[in-house]
Amino acid sequence: MATLEVEGLAKSFGGVQAVRGVSFAVAPGEMLALIGPNGAGKSTCFNMLNGQLRPDAGRVWLRGQDITGLAPRRVWRLGVGRTFQITATFGSMTVLENVQMALLSHQRRLGGLWTPVRAMDCAPAEALLARLGMAEQAERPCGILAYGDLKRVELAIALANDPALLLMDEPTAGMAPQERVALMALTAGIARERGIAVLFTEHDMDVVFAHADRILVLDRGALIAQGAPAAVRADPRVREVYLGAGH
Ligand SMILES: Nc1ncnc2c1ncn2[C@@H]1O[C@H](COP(=O)(O)OP(=O)(O)O)[C@@H](O)[C@H]1O
Ligand SMILES: [Mg+2]
Repeated sequence: MATLEVEGLAKSFGGVQAVRGVSFAVAPGEMLALIGPNGAGKSTCFNMLNGQLRPDAGRVWLRGQDITGLAPRRVWRLGVGRTFQITATFGSMTVLENVQMALLSHQRRLGGLWTPVRAMDCAPAEALLARLGMAEQAERPCGILAYGDLKRVELAIALANDPALLLMDEPTAGMAPQERVALMALTAGIARERGIAVLFTEHDMDVVFAHADRILVLDRGALIAQGAPAAVRADPRVREVYLGAGH
């Protein structure tokens, strides 16, 4: 079964048809890139998937369950994680504490015991940080981290919720090119290990072509192409509207 299935999704703002009849699916462990020029409707799609926006038409299923129009908290509880373009962590708390908080809230949601934070076992949070290459930063306050490290903490917090689907709208915005590739390589590795479906947008085509299993191309609210990176790269329509000459 697909992790996410979307059928005929549509949204208008006043006279602007931001998204017009978008359909696609994401499989467990798959890295699916949603690309397209500015204003194509990428963020509007994401916001209809995470519950921020109610679609005018269309359906969204998560592991077969209809989640169309559910509030963001409910969507998140059902296993849709997201990373934020504006990083949301507690700056005065350490990296480890931030990840522990996220793990604790996940356990409580599953009906676990009401463990006080200070009595928690650190091992699961430490293991997650080690997997993200953040072991040495564990005791530092988030407020003093470099931007790229903060993005890793954000990813750790999203993963602590044990998502089935991870939505990443421009996850590498503001990062240096090398850091971008590293963050997405890490994300792809973890997604495959854990069977997490990942839908991401990204401006850097090197990152997209290096890490996407499949690519969707959105133009003025409609999907104009979808397929494996090589096929999308060669599609004349995609080259015309998006990639331009020289790619
Ligand atoms: N809240 C909103 N109110 C009015 N128009 C919006 C709103 N959000 C997006 N739009 C419009 O919808 C279109 C798609 O925007 P968006 O989804 O942000 O595109 P992208 O993320 O691909 O750059 C644009 O024309 C944008 O101006
Ligand atoms: Mg956007």
